[in-house]
Amino acid sequence: MAKRGKWKSSLGFVLAAAGSAVGLGNIWRFPYVTGKNGGAVFLFVYILAVIFLGLVVMYAELSLGRATQKNPVGAFEKIKPGSLWKGVGFLGVFTGVGILSYYSVIAGWTLYYFYISSLGKFTGNITRTQVDKIFASFVSNPLLTIVMLFLFILLTSFVVSRGISSGIEKWTGVLMPLLFLILLVLSIYSLTLPGASRGLSFYLRPDFSKLNLRMILSAVGQAFFSLSLGMGAMITYGSYLSRDENLFASGLEVVGFDTLVAFLAGIIIFPTVFTYGLSPQAGVPLVFKTLPFTFSRLPLGRLFGPLFFFLLAIAALTSTISLVEVATSYLVDEKKMARPLAAYMVGGVAFLIGIPSALSTSSRFFSNFAFGKSFLDIMDYLWANISLPLGALLLSIFVAYVWGARNAAMEIRPDKARKFPGEDLWVIDIKFFVPIVLGIILISALLGFS
Ligand code: PHE
Repeated sequence: MAKRGKWKSSLGFVLAAAGSAVGLGNIWRFPYVTGKNGGAVFLFVYILAVIFLGLVVMYAELSLGRATQKNPVGAFEKIKPGSLWKGVGFLGVFTGVGILSYYSVIAGWTLYYFYISSLGKFTGNITRTQVDKIFASFVSNPLLTIVMLFLFILLTSFVVSRGISSGIEKWTGVLMPLLFLILLVLSIYSLTLPGASRGLSFYLRPDFSKLNLRMILSAVGQAFFSLSLGMGAMITYGSYLSRDENLFASGLEVVGFDTLVAFLAGIIIFPTVFTYGLSPQAGVPLVFKTLPFTFSRLPLGRLFGPLFFFLLAIAALTSTISLVEVATSYLVDEKKMARPLAAYMVGGVAFLIGIPSALSTSSRFFSNFAFGKSFLDIMDYLWANISLPLGALLLSIFVAYVWGARNAAMEIRPDKARKFPGEDLWVIDIKFFVPIVLGIILISALLGFS
């Protein structure tokens, strides 16, 4: 058997896993879902979901990946050979391709915004009419949105075809920290805006009377989406880890960093929204309709604009890489396919499925596809709010009861002779809390959709 790739260094792994986690989920999806769900209450529920569901499932995925050194399908098969459990791995493979298909549409928007901000479109105290016009004229152009989608998927497949450490690790190591720095600069600027206090009170002062089930479902879906959980990405990345890696610390770092980035995105967006009289409820376009104001007024905005959209595209790329990698690692490990062929094939399929999503802003048919929602909205709802929690639910049952929570815990322990901090709590959480809460949420989601 061909030798599997490995991360070159511990930092390389943490950066790559953080690269998978940090992406459009944090900077595009988190602010728009938070805005739609009433702001601060949503943030509150989201943080609880990250700690009590996300972090717990993160350890389950990483430990399963490292213990088996396999892709998601192979991982289930190795622990419980000949059983139906490998279906959960397949679910992950499909979910990866499904998410990739519409995620890359939005990533294509980012590429385009990089291009137009380089041309200096976001300068000179831009007005709301101008911002709306730039957005509308782009997204209503079917050919352009499809070309952007195509370019983005091609780029992803190219990186994945090059393999683990020469491809993925090299890219993420340099660019992630740079993105973080820019976010810090933008956050500080945002806090100086006249609407900052209104923005912050929307974002940080919860009104618990607004709490509802739909919001809880969205918060949970968002937590899994943002942390790349529930579809085997972290099983796959964990499988490239060597035995002496400290899983406990790595998991904590990835979850902490991802949450910090999402939090900062909110700090950037909401003060801007309130300063320029925009609506926090704008939905999918929120970020694209907000940030141009920032760049057109920020000192050196002419430079920060293109740099930001470039780095956002890279952050999206390190996430799409992990989406493609799940299906690719399956095809390479189990079907003995050559890596480049597998990577381009997965990309090709996602491109075809992605076309209706790319047309969701231009074609009448796809913009009002069903239930009064666009095709892209429906994809986003199905994969993020249903498929990821479902994958996480099944995975947690598998880890807790089939593999055994204590076996998984052994894998997480930095020192095999001693429990990791919070181990007993983790065991209870994965055995009872995660399956029960996810079960309830999923049933209500399924009922709520029809
Ligand atoms: N976590 C990524 C983001 O926030 C998206 C993603 C979801 C990647 C699921 C892999 C798996 O942008």
